[in-house]
Amino acid sequence: MKKLSHLYFPLGLFLLCSLLSCLAMATPNITSDQSALLSLKAKITGDPHEILASNWPATSSVCDWRGVTCGSRHRRVTALNISNLGLTGTIPPQLGNLSFLMSLDMSRNNFYGELPHELIRLSRLRVLSLGINVLSGNIPSWVGSFQQLQHFSLKNNSFTGFIPPSISNLSKLETLNLQFNSLQGAIPMEIGNLNKLKQIVLDFNQLSGFLPLGMFNISSLEVIALQNNSLSGSLPSSICPRLHGLTWLDLGRNKLSGVIPPSLSECSKLQVLGLDDNFFSGVIPEGFGNLTALVELRLARNNLIGVIPEGFGNLTALKQLYLSENNLIGTILALEF
Ligand SMILES: *[C@@H]1O[C@H](CO)[C@@H](O)[C@H](O)[C@H]1NC(C)=O
Ligand SMILES: *[C@@H]1O[C@H](CO)[C@@H](O)[C@H](O)[C@H]1NC(C)=O
Ligand SMILES: *[C@@H]1O[C@H](CO)[C@@H](O)[C@H](O)[C@H]1NC(C)=O
Ligand SMILES: *[C@@H]1O[C@H](CO)[C@@H](O)[C@H](O)[C@H]1NC(C)=O
Ligand SMILES: *[C@@H]1O[C@H](CO)[C@@H](O)[C@H](O)[C@H]1NC(C)=O
Ligand SMILES: *[C@@H]1O[C@H](CO)[C@@H](O)[C@H](O)[C@H]1NC(C)=O
Ligand SMILES: *[C@@H]1O[C@H](CO)[C@@H](O)[C@H](O)[C@H]1NC(C)=O
Ligand SMILES: *[C@@H]1O[C@H](CO)[C@@H](O)[C@H](O)[C@H]1NC(C)=O
Ligand SMILES: *[C@@H]1O[C@H](CO)[C@@H](O)[C@H](O)[C@H]1NC(C)=O
Repeated sequence: MKKLSHLYFPLGLFLLCSLLSCLAMATPNITSDQSALLSLKAKITGDPHEILASNWPATSSVCDWRGVTCGSRHRRVTALNISNLGLTGTIPPQLGNLSFLMSLDMSRNNFYGELPHELIRLSRLRVLSLGINVLSGNIPSWVGSFQQLQHFSLKNNSFTGFIPPSISNLSKLETLNLQFNSLQGAIPMEIGNLNKLKQIVLDFNQLSGFLPLGMFNISSLEVIALQNNSLSGSLPSSICPRLHGLTWLDLGRNKLSGVIPPSLSECSKLQVLGLDDNFFSGVIPEGFGNLTALVELRLARNNLIGVIPEGFGNLTALKQLYLSENNLIGTILALEF
C-alpha cells in the first residue's frame, strides 16, 4: 500500500498543481467584479438621470465608479450603493460574482423580476437592502445562508409566498424589514432563535396563524411591527420581563383575542402601542398609566370594557390616543390635545 502511494505521488502532485491553476483561473478578481457590474449596467433599461451611463465608464477602475466601494487590502468591490437613482431594470445573475461584497443597497429604484439564485454566492453580505422596488416571486430560502447578515430589507416590493424558516439561520441579524409585500402563511416559529434581533417589521402583509411565542423571548428587541396582517391567538401573559427595551409594539388590524396582559405595563420604554382593530376583551390594565413614554396608544375597535385607568392623566407625552368603538367608561383628566 505504501509503495503504491509512493508510486502515485508524482501523479498526485500533478493533479494538485492543475487543481491550483484551475482555481486561480476561476477565482474572481477585480476584472470579474467589473464584468459583474457591467452586466448590471447592461440590464438597466431606465436611467433617467444618466447616472450609470456617465459615471460607470469602462475606461476607469470600477473602484472609482459612483456607488462602488473597494476594500483597501484586496482591491475588490466591498460595497455597492445605487439607492434612489430612479433606475429601472432586473438583477443579473452575474452580480453573484461580487464575492467580496459586504453591503448591497439597491433600494428606492424600480428593479423588477426575481432574485437570481446566483446571489447565494454573496456569502460576506452584512447589509442586503432591496426595499422600495417592484421585485416579485418568493423570498428564496437560500437567504438563510448569509451567515454575516445584519440588516435585511425587502420592504415595499411585490414578494409573495411564505417567509422561509431558514431566516432563523441568520444568527447575526439585527433588522428584518419585509413590510408592504404580499407575504402569506405563518411567521416562522424559529424566528425566536434570532437573539440579536432589534427590529422585526412585517406589517402590511397577509400573514396568518399564531404569533411566534419565541419572539417574545428575544431580549434585544426594540421594535415589533406586525400591523395589518391576519394574525390570531392571544398575547403571552408575560412579555416585558424579557423585552425591557421594547419601544414599539404594533399589532393593530389583526385577529388577536384574549385579554391585554397587565404585565404589558412593565414595558416602560414603550412609545407606540397599537392593539386596535382586534378582538381583545376585558379591561385596559390599570398599569398603563405608568407607561409615561407613550406617544401613541391605539386600542380602538376591540371588545374592551370597564373604566379608563385614572393614570392616563399622567401620560403627558401622549400625542395620539384612540379608544373608540369599545365599551369603555370614565374620563381622562389633565390631558391636553
Ligand atoms: C483576473 O483573472 C483573469 C483570469 O480569470 C486574468 O486574466 C486577469 O489578468 C486577472 N486580472 C487581474 C487584475 O488580476
Ligand atoms: C446608500 O446611500 C444612501 C444615500 O446616500 C444612504 O442614505 C444609505 O444609507 C446608503 N446605504 C448604505 C447601506 O450605506
Ligand atoms: C460570473 O457569473 C456568471 C453567471 O453566474 C458566470 O457564468 C461567469 O462565469 C462568471 N464570470 C466570472 C468572470 O467569474
Ligand atoms: C444554515 O446554516 C448552516 C450552518 O450554520 C448551513 O450549513 C446551512 O446550509 C444553512 N441553511 C440554509 C437553509 O441556508
Ligand atoms: C410603501 O408602500 C406603501 C403602500 O403602497 C406606501 O404607502 C408607502 O409610502 C411606501 N413607503 C415608501 C417609503 O415608499
Ligand atoms: C422563552 O424562554 C423561557 C425561559 O427561558 C422558556 O421557558 C420558554 O420555553 C421560551 N419560550 C419559547 C417559545 O421559546
Ligand atoms: C390592510 O389589509 C387589508 C387586507 O389584508 C387590506 O385590504 C387593506 O388595504 C390594508 N390596509 C392598508 C392601509 O393597507
Ligand atoms: C406603577 O409603577 C409604580 C412604581 O413602579 C408601582 O408601584 C405601581 O404599582 C404601578 N401601578 C400600577 C397600577 O401597576
Ligand atoms: C401620577 O404620577 C404621580 C407621580 O408619579 C403619582 O403620584 C400619581 O399617583 C399618578 N396618578 C395616577 C392617577 O396614577
